[in-house]
Amino acid sequence: MGIYLFFICSIIASSFCSVCLAVPASLASATDSPSSSADSLALNAIDNAHSWEFSGAMLSLPRSSIATASVGHMAFFAGGRLQNDTYTDVVDVFDRRTGKWSVSHLSMARSEIGAGSVSGRYAIFAGGLDSTFKPLSLVDVYDTKTNKWTTIHLDTPRGSPRIMDLGSVTAIVGGLSGDLQYLSKAVEYMGTSLDSAASSLQTEYPQFGVAVADKTSGVGIYTSGYQNDRPGDRFNDFEQSNQTSIFTVSGSSASIKVGLPFPSPRWGAGGATANGLFAFGGGHVFSSGDSEPSTTVVDRVDLYDAKTGQWSSNPLSLSVPRDYPLVQAVGDYIVFAGGTDESKDLDILDTRTGSFVEDLQHRPALHTLRTNAAAVTIDNCLLIIAGGLVYQGANATASVEMFNACRS
Ligand SMILES: *[C@@H]1O[C@H](CO)[C@@H](O)[C@H](O)[C@H]1NC(C)=O
Ligand SMILES: *[C@@H]1O[C@H](CO)[C@@H](O)[C@H](O)[C@H]1NC(C)=O
Ligand SMILES: *[C@@H]1O[C@H](CO)[C@@H](O)[C@H](O)[C@H]1NC(C)=O
Repeated sequence: MGIYLFFICSIIASSFCSVCLAVPASLASATDSPSSSADSLALNAIDNAHSWEFSGAMLSLPRSSIATASVGHMAFFAGGRLQNDTYTDVVDVFDRRTGKWSVSHLSMARSEIGAGSVSGRYAIFAGGLDSTFKPLSLVDVYDTKTNKWTTIHLDTPRGSPRIMDLGSVTAIVGGLSGDLQYLSKAVEYMGTSLDSAASSLQTEYPQFGVAVADKTSGVGIYTSGYQNDRPGDRFNDFEQSNQTSIFTVSGSSASIKVGLPFPSPRWGAGGATANGLFAFGGGHVFSSGDSEPSTTVVDRVDLYDAKTGQWSSNPLSLSVPRDYPLVQAVGDYIVFAGGTDESKDLDILDTRTGSFVEDLQHRPALHTLRTNAAAVTIDNCLLIIAGGLVYQGANATASVEMFNACRS
């Protein structure tokens, strides 16, 4: 059973929805790879997930759908949707060296921005949708060396492009194009000088997938999410996707090949990678039958081993089903948070053992249940969860939760 365009349009037209099919909530979990850098502050996470130190903070404005990126010791929380349903250009910036927050601005307020890092130096805020849902080519760039903002442009305008930092090259992959009818196959590679080179996904159907990149090995995976089985037709047929693209960067050259199909196609999964293990967890599937489509949220976690190029035949399970979970790598761990109102607990996958950390009583937990929140990790050890919606989606929050796993 397909999900047709008019269904999505009616959702968008009726007002912005937090569970909009065309615009998945969790950009951050899908696009950000953990940050690591070479100097003395960039430390590995402490071994014991039970002793992560918690602290709170506040963004300058309560909001949801925030785009996040981490570069060097800094994290950026850009744009988003305010309580009064307008978009903001505000960027809250946290610097781990000083422990201080500051406020900056994008060149234009917009939604569905793709955020990520380039060459360990730049934070980019690419594309997005304007208030009429028109895709944008605008890219705001923050240079952590000069502390200055500039703007550049994508060849292909898109909303919610996925950003994969593959080390020496960052790939800007897919997104929402045209009038939201079509999914983009466009790929743009960006190198150290912010020059760009155009490429394209090699898979059969245009796909709006989950992107997970390992900047150390230069391997990235774009998979799951949904695809349009009738591109170019008047009515699209959006189906959950098993198409997988493997990105490989070696030196300054990048390539894409088609990988083995995602074992359990679904919408709304999130992913991250640590130690060469790529984990994709949560999401939802549509029930079959000819009544109204209904969804079942899942607890399944699929694992991909970059060394063998294989999906594991033994998927893991989260402690609760989670839809659009926040997923971040923290040291050797992959952390799943949110995506449920059943549990504040973090599910913590230890990539050294390939299993979840047990001891439910003592593992770290969110203080505030929220949807549409943003997550990012600084220096591969400081996990920050910010903003989102509280009170069953009624109110935007400014609250920030920080889980510090850095060795001091
Ligand atoms: C929405 O809220 C923001 C921040 O409180 C405010 O600056 C802006 O003027 C408001 N816009 C509208 C249209 O109410
Ligand atoms: C992948 O999905 C397609 C439908 O889009 C299906 O025909 C195919 O059997 C799937 N492949 C696997 C290995 O599940
Ligand atoms: C939630 O938002 C509404 C406006 O949408 C406001 O009237 C109400 O006071 C807010 N509640 C809290 C607890 O902030």
